[in-house]
Amino acid sequence: RTVSPTGVGFDGPKDGRDPRGQAGDRLTTPNGVRIPDSDHSLKAGPRGPVLLEDFHLREKIMHFDHERIPERVVHARGAGAHGVFTANGKAATVTRAAVLAEEGLQTPVFVRFSTVLGSRGSADTVRDTRGFATKFYTKEGTWDLVGNNMPVFFIQDAIKFPDIIHAGKPHPDREIPQAQSAHDTFWDFVTLHTEATHHTIWNMSDRGIPRSYRTMEGFGVHTFRLVNAQRETVLVKFHWKPKLGVHSLVWEEAQIAAGCDPDFHRRDLYDAIENGAFPEWDLGIQVFPDTPEETFEGIDLLDPTKIVPEELAPVQIIGTLVLDGNPTNFFAETEQVAFHTGHLVPGIEGTNDPLLQGRNFSYLDTQLTRLGGPNFTQIPINRPHAPVNDSTRDGFHQQAIHTGQAPYTPNSVDDGVPFPSDWAEGGYVHVPRPVAGDVVRAAPASFDDHFSQAAMFYASLTPIEQQHVIDAYTFELGKCYEQAIKERALTVLARIDADLCTQVAAGLGLPAPEVPKAAPSKRAGKAKRPAPVPSPAL
Ligand code: HEM
Repeated sequence: RTVSPTGVGFDGPKDGRDPRGQAGDRLTTPNGVRIPDSDHSLKAGPRGPVLLEDFHLREKIMHFDHERIPERVVHARGAGAHGVFTANGKAATVTRAAVLAEEGLQTPVFVRFSTVLGSRGSADTVRDTRGFATKFYTKEGTWDLVGNNMPVFFIQDAIKFPDIIHAGKPHPDREIPQAQSAHDTFWDFVTLHTEATHHTIWNMSDRGIPRSYRTMEGFGVHTFRLVNAQRETVLVKFHWKPKLGVHSLVWEEAQIAAGCDPDFHRRDLYDAIENGAFPEWDLGIQVFPDTPEETFEGIDLLDPTKIVPEELAPVQIIGTLVLDGNPTNFFAETEQVAFHTGHLVPGIEGTNDPLLQGRNFSYLDTQLTRLGGPNFTQIPINRPHAPVNDSTRDGFHQQAIHTGQAPYTPNSVDDGVPFPSDWAEGGYVHVPRPVAGDVVRAAPASFDDHFSQAAMFYASLTPIEQQHVIDAYTFELGKCYEQAIKERALTVLARIDADLCTQVAAGLGLPAPEVPKAAPSKRAGKAKRPAPVPSPAL
């Protein structure tokens, strides 16, 4: 179905064309010429050579030859669904974005879940981070919340993204292993770039092998800035909380499923929606005062390797997502959907998190290649559900027939399109914020603390969950060829937890290193902690 049961989901192109791209009851060429025989080439006699003048043969094969587009450079394997987000109105005090602020407002969404490292045909249940990307078709334009099922990321600066992905993808010589963190380059990277320690331990925990997309949390990871109707700002972190709870597979189940049913998660999502068991998530925010330091309780809010514990800033629920419609066509929707962290609507802004800033460049750039030119907002799944009146023109795959002579604003040739005079009229106007500092390639001192939150995460687990972490490190590191990498990994584990290190070392048949637990960095966190400011209640 192309319309979700709630009636507000995707309903195909808005230009009056048949959204199926098919009409009539007879086979035709792409140009609409009726064809009585599509099984035999035009030949000089039944046993003769094929004739160049067979336009149907050439067109049919030409199109087939070009059916594939590049898979995503990361998150290539995924599954999508249509749904609806309903705001409960509580966020009205902190944002003017209607999608979040207007009580009862229903906004259509498309969500794509994914693994990160595997190729398009890889198995669903591998140990990996999962993508949780949501496109909100708001009445004020499209907002994308492009998150993951883990609240932190491997790196603190987008300039390292090509490096971590090169390290995590299959080795370039043998093109193995697929979609597993069990290889030398991955462990080489995360032990040399120890900012990756926190995300890595989440990967080695049960969170790395979710039972279902329906039982995953989602996180915006970065801190965002919300702006209310009075132009007051707060900093927030976004959380998706599954109504079904958080559940994982155990390792043996994940392995068996990868073999017996590589489509395990894709099938589960589709079947659940088909059977009317619509998965639901609450959307919540942790709210922090927007102070010049951009820290909360000593935690740097611009560091994407850090969480703010919910005990310090509770997740306050601002709305609910229901996924109630399967895609009609995987390629048209799930494959061609284009998310972008820079798709923001008035009332929602980014921050100076250097990982987020790099992402704001990367998504459009990659989609330019993946979707074949600059007009991919015209692909049905990417079309805004708000009026579009821009001055972009032409380019590959242009679908619009623009009228007039003056694609610039203001103009005195066509009717002219007035700008909204200011933010009060609904325009996206960034909240002014001061910028200062020397131009340097450097990170703030607080980014130096790479271990304390990994240790906190491990300490928060139950004994059986800790055993799963030990087993995962032992299995994955056991696949490394280079002993030096395993030994370096053990020195990292020693800085998380002595028992974790000892047990993994035993599993690997190596001595546990004598590494004293790091004293908290003098440059980092707590030493500079400002007076506590409570998380504002909505
Ligand atoms: C794709 C999340 C960091 C570049 C994706 C997708 C998700 C995601 C969910 C899949 C979107 C889909 O389903 O189509 C994240 C998160 C990050 C992160 C949560 C860190 C917090 C980065 C960084 C870069 C990057 C730092 C580059 C500098 C890409 C690219 C794609 C992608 C190129 C493919 C997009 C496409 O082909 O349409 N990311 N990502 N990501 N991400 Fe990220």
